[in-house]
Amino acid sequence: MVVINRAALLLVANVVAVVCRRHDATPYLDTTLSPAERATDLLGRMTWEEKVGQLGGVRRAFGTAGGKPTFNRTTYETTRTTQNGQIGYGPQLNWANDLLPLMNNLRAEHLNDSRLGIPYIIVADSVNGLWVSGGTLFPGTISMASSWNLPLYEQVAAAMRDENLAMGVHWVLSPEVDVIQDPRNGRNGEMYGEDSYLVGEFATRYIKTMQERDENGWVKVATTIKHFVFGGGSGGVNRASMFGGINHILNDLAPPYRKAIEEARPLSLMASYSSVDGVPLSINRHLLQDVLRGTLGFEGLIMSDANAIEYLFTESKVASSREDAAVKALAAGLEHELHPGGRGLFSDLRDPKYEAEPDVVSLVDESVRAFLEIKFATGMFERPLPSVESMKATLRNERHLELNRNITRESLVMLKNDGLLPLDRDEIGAGGGRGKIAVLGPYADIINAGNYAPADPLDRRYGNSIRLSFEKELGVDSIIYAQGTSTILPSYVGDGSADEQAIAEAVEAAKAAGLAVIVLGSGFGNFDQKFINNERTDTEGYAHADLGFPGRQQQLLDAVLDAGVPTVLVMNAGQVFVLDNSTMSRCRAIFHVWLAGEYTGDALVETLLGDINPSGKLTVTMPQHNGAFPVAYDLLPSDGVGGFGSALAYDWHWPQLTRKPPLAFGFGLSYTTFSMSDAEVSLRKRQNHKVVSVSVTLTNAGNIVGKEVVQLYYRPRYTTIEFPVMKLIRFAKVELTPGDSKRVALEVPVRELGYFVDGQWNIDHGEYSFWVGSSSREEDLTLLNVTIPSFG
Ligand SMILES: *[C@@H]1O[C@H](CO)[C@@H](O)[C@H](O)[C@H]1NC(C)=O
Ligand SMILES: *[C@@H]1O[C@H](CO)[C@@H](O)[C@H](O)[C@H]1NC(C)=O
Ligand SMILES: *[C@@H]1O[C@H](CO)[C@@H](O)[C@H](O)[C@H]1NC(C)=O
Ligand SMILES: *[C@@H]1O[C@H](CO)[C@@H](O)[C@H](O)[C@H]1NC(C)=O
Ligand SMILES: *[C@@H]1O[C@H](CO)[C@@H](O)[C@H](O)[C@H]1NC(C)=O
Repeated sequence: MVVINRAALLLVANVVAVVCRRHDATPYLDTTLSPAERATDLLGRMTWEEKVGQLGGVRRAFGTAGGKPTFNRTTYETTRTTQNGQIGYGPQLNWANDLLPLMNNLRAEHLNDSRLGIPYIIVADSVNGLWVSGGTLFPGTISMASSWNLPLYEQVAAAMRDENLAMGVHWVLSPEVDVIQDPRNGRNGEMYGEDSYLVGEFATRYIKTMQERDENGWVKVATTIKHFVFGGGSGGVNRASMFGGINHILNDLAPPYRKAIEEARPLSLMASYSSVDGVPLSINRHLLQDVLRGTLGFEGLIMSDANAIEYLFTESKVASSREDAAVKALAAGLEHELHPGGRGLFSDLRDPKYEAEPDVVSLVDESVRAFLEIKFATGMFERPLPSVESMKATLRNERHLELNRNITRESLVMLKNDGLLPLDRDEIGAGGGRGKIAVLGPYADIINAGNYAPADPLDRRYGNSIRLSFEKELGVDSIIYAQGTSTILPSYVGDGSADEQAIAEAVEAAKAAGLAVIVLGSGFGNFDQKFINNERTDTEGYAHADLGFPGRQQQLLDAVLDAGVPTVLVMNAGQVFVLDNSTMSRCRAIFHVWLAGEYTGDALVETLLGDINPSGKLTVTMPQHNGAFPVAYDLLPSDGVGGFGSALAYDWHWPQLTRKPPLAFGFGLSYTTFSMSDAEVSLRKRQNHKVVSVSVTLTNAGNIVGKEVVQLYYRPRYTTIEFPVMKLIRFAKVELTPGDSKRVALEVPVRELGYFVDGQWNIDHGEYSFWVGSSSREEDLTLLNVTIPSFG
């Protein structure tokens, strides 16, 4: 019975679809209607099975073997029958050239097979640019944020968008706006930083740029703001629970969502894995409906994180079966399922019994409508498939590579320089005096770009390692390379005795050269199976129980320092490390290069040689100790006090530490010297609102051109509930030639100075402090007071 009906329906509908396409009479094919109108019309024509099919997709269309895509027809068809809303490319180490023709065929075939002509939409992560190999390998998110250069980031986001478009990707699973609240989280390198304002600024630009409309009015690439809501999983663990009342969520974690929703309208959002206050986000009606939709005004589609619905049953045990999990997630407001492989949980809703449940039907209808709206908005029903020629002309084009170099150069953060740098090129190499450079460490000869980067760390097609960039720039004869240690696992794994010899060799290399550049880090690799089980110590799925350098790396560094060789320490990782006093005082210069992509090596060498003046700044504070939490600069006043008697005594107490670590948020050095003077604050009227205006004169007092980030922080003197000791509210990156000055003015509408109290926006009047300067450290800031009268 069912079969006959369906076949008859298929026949009729196919004829209808063809006829309608020809005459353009069917509303859902009418491009003059809005995406919402078209979606509503199409929804009315869909069978229950077709609707449920749109709730999921073929997350990984291809496999990989020997660097080439593989395709299993059986697996594909099994999935496609029940889950066919979106499709994804699959393994990161497949190459764009191989993939595009295969994907184009699958898409054409699927469209052809679809009764109503409903196309797939390709969904992919986009952290370092393309998810698959062959595009420009941009730096990871924390690297790009360290540039503090929003206009440049916007151009990079446009390049990332265009490479995605060239591959037919019209929906990205980015940006990740989780505020870094715990340095132990292995995913921090995918995020922008510890400050919610900074995160919001970068993420809003990413979304605006991705979702720009083309000449047909179609959104180029839909975005997924994520993970609502996360920041401080228990113990720094990715999928662990967190606590927090509504003030914490709205004031500390949600500001990037608030800004992005108001200013850039992300078309979708991903619920986080985390339980908040005991309720997993995938079934958290209160946070998804009351807070996200209600207080924050989000109107787009809400999707699950990968496997998250299944975890309700298998991990959190708040559902008693797969179907129970699916129904609960749907009821809470999840509208689309991201399921990495095999049968998704929403696909179980195909069972005809659910079609008889009005509540389920209306939730599915609403979800499908929201999903189809994105397909219409992005032009999926009309756009031609991307051509191989256009793909080849777009990926890695000259402009994209140049933008990549530019942002990488601005993302390296110099944390110490006692005058050793920049190095004098004439003193290195065959003709020179001092001789050679020893390039040392387990991260010196790989590309460590993060696990969302399509990069095999050992494959030179993904870029030069730091070692190779040195050899290219100064000649092979000027460089002595030694790995120093291959033990990069946490120290409790293995005894590392095999490294004694390697460390001794590195020390000899350092002595022979007279100068050491030692590259330490954590990572590495991506989601390819060959890296999942390797010596991974950072990235998704790997939290840090210790914030020192994993394995024997500290021993290697100490041995080189003990030998008295001038040493530049370079950190290459998505995480912060605890640098002990001996490291801080004995290294002559220190850099954090984060996960800087294919030009990490080139940019570092240019910087060490003084061709580039570093201008990156930390977007996360470097902790002084494993246990010195919270680490972020914007702690609450009561977090930094307590104890008895002495000003040095905190309830939280370690005698040599302070609540303000020197390598703080916003900090980063330059080869030139900037000064700020004549800081002023005033209250002004702009149209219908009051603004606080802070201006300061920035001067390049040194003798080379450079860029400085002017940062503005604030706090009301007394607040209704606790408010951070200071909070970033504006920043501007300014380039100045030697001797030049510029008056920099930063304006903040007064209404932006508020915060939520139990869900209500509250603005205090009275005295405010504003600090302007070059980092969040007190010594780098000028304090200005202003009184904000009550408003009317
Ligand atoms: C394709 O996948 C199916 C399971 O879905 C498996 O049984 C079969 O062996 C696979 N075929 C190949 C050629 O790998
Ligand atoms: C589309 O379907 C028709 C009829 O079944 C078939 O002849 C044609 O080859 C199909 N095209 C693609 C691209 O699959
Ligand atoms: C890269 O930076 C250089 C130096 O600031 C600038 O001249 C060039 O235009 C930039 N390139 C792009 C593509 O923006
Ligand atoms: C580390 O150095 C700081 C400043 O140089 C000093 O105040 C502190 O006592 C030192 N801590 C230890 C444990 O040596
Ligand atoms: C600003 O106000 C604070 C708190 O009242 C006070 O301690 C400080 O001296 C004032 N600073 C200036 C520059 O007025």
